[in-house]
Amino acid sequence: MKLAFFDTKPYDMPGFDRYAVQAGIEIKYYETRLNEDTVSLASGFDAVCVFVNDTVNANVVNKLSDLGVQVIALRCAGFNNVDIPRCSGKLRVFRVPAYSPHAVAEHAMALLLTINRRTHKAFIRTREFNFSLQGLAGFDLYGKTVGIIGTGKIGRVFADICRGFGMRILAYDKFPAQNAGLEYVDLPTLFRESDIISLHCPLTDETAHIIDSDSIAMMKKGVTIINTSRGALINTEDLITGIKEKKIGAACLDVYEEEGDLFYEDFSGHIVQDDKLVRLIAMPNVIVTSHQAFLTQEALDNIAATTVENLRKFEAGIPSPETEVVFHS
Ligand code: NAI
Repeated sequence: MKLAFFDTKPYDMPGFDRYAVQAGIEIKYYETRLNEDTVSLASGFDAVCVFVNDTVNANVVNKLSDLGVQVIALRCAGFNNVDIPRCSGKLRVFRVPAYSPHAVAEHAMALLLTINRRTHKAFIRTREFNFSLQGLAGFDLYGKTVGIIGTGKIGRVFADICRGFGMRILAYDKFPAQNAGLEYVDLPTLFRESDIISLHCPLTDETAHIIDSDSIAMMKKGVTIINTSRGALINTEDLITGIKEKKIGAACLDVYEEEGDLFYEDFSGHIVQDDKLVRLIAMPNVIVTSHQAFLTQEALDNIAATTVENLRKFEAGIPSPETEVVFHS
């Protein structure tokens, strides 16, 4: 099998090289993302491997199919960037449903602890021998209420972590987990009662902008919002307004609505044109990380192993219902 690997970063290659050699898969690494302009690079390949910010829209799907590509291997869990209905009957699509829920949940907690206890600011201060504590006061997480939206693999690990901190947990899920020991409430109750809200649901038509001016209006003054899921779960304009009006006390964002043009690249020498992102980054009570919640050694290894295994099974005609993404009309 020949695999065209898009949006390659140096940290992708060691794991993929190791597993692909074992499986007899030949990989061509492209730094560029897959989109309408680059899709012709997939010519002569059986499969493409894509990540969160590759654009696999209807035109790209059609072109891949025309080029003879048979399979799309997503090396991530979410598949909102792939036109799944259009793939039906043309291309098989596989993903990595779980590579390390711990990586993402731990990053969500890292962001919460950082923004709350201002360790990012303390780090910079002490490097300049500024030992003042002015403005660094946080609050105890113990006893606070955290609202978790989406209680799948990551949401439940995050709930366990929060339990360890002695927090009260409220949960909302369209499909509540049985016997998870979670207190499920409706969304308005979660918005009203939570001191911290963490998003762990997928991006769908239903969840897009689940955080907007209406939901923010229901929230407690000073609420902290954490998003390690997908940027478009939050209406960024409404978030900025909420922070400016001091309704929202803090925001921790590993993902951003318009991240596709920026995240994973170095723009430190450029004038960033995205005013909303610049505004957010300029706010003292906002932390932005560039979609790195997944980035642990364990997760990278699992991503490579599962992606290669998906391709091996596809080639051998072995069904993989737990990793294949199928369109249900
Ligand atoms: P999962 O599939 O195990 O859990 C998702 C949960 O969301 C399920 O319990 C599902 O019932 C629930 N859900 C579905 N529709 C909903 C709705 N309309 N309202 C509320 N809940 C709904 O997925 P997992 O592994 O926990 O991942 C969650 C999300 O995290 C992914 O969809 C992905 O977008 C994001 N993610 C982010 C990463 C990062 O690096 N920042 C890495 C991996 C995943």
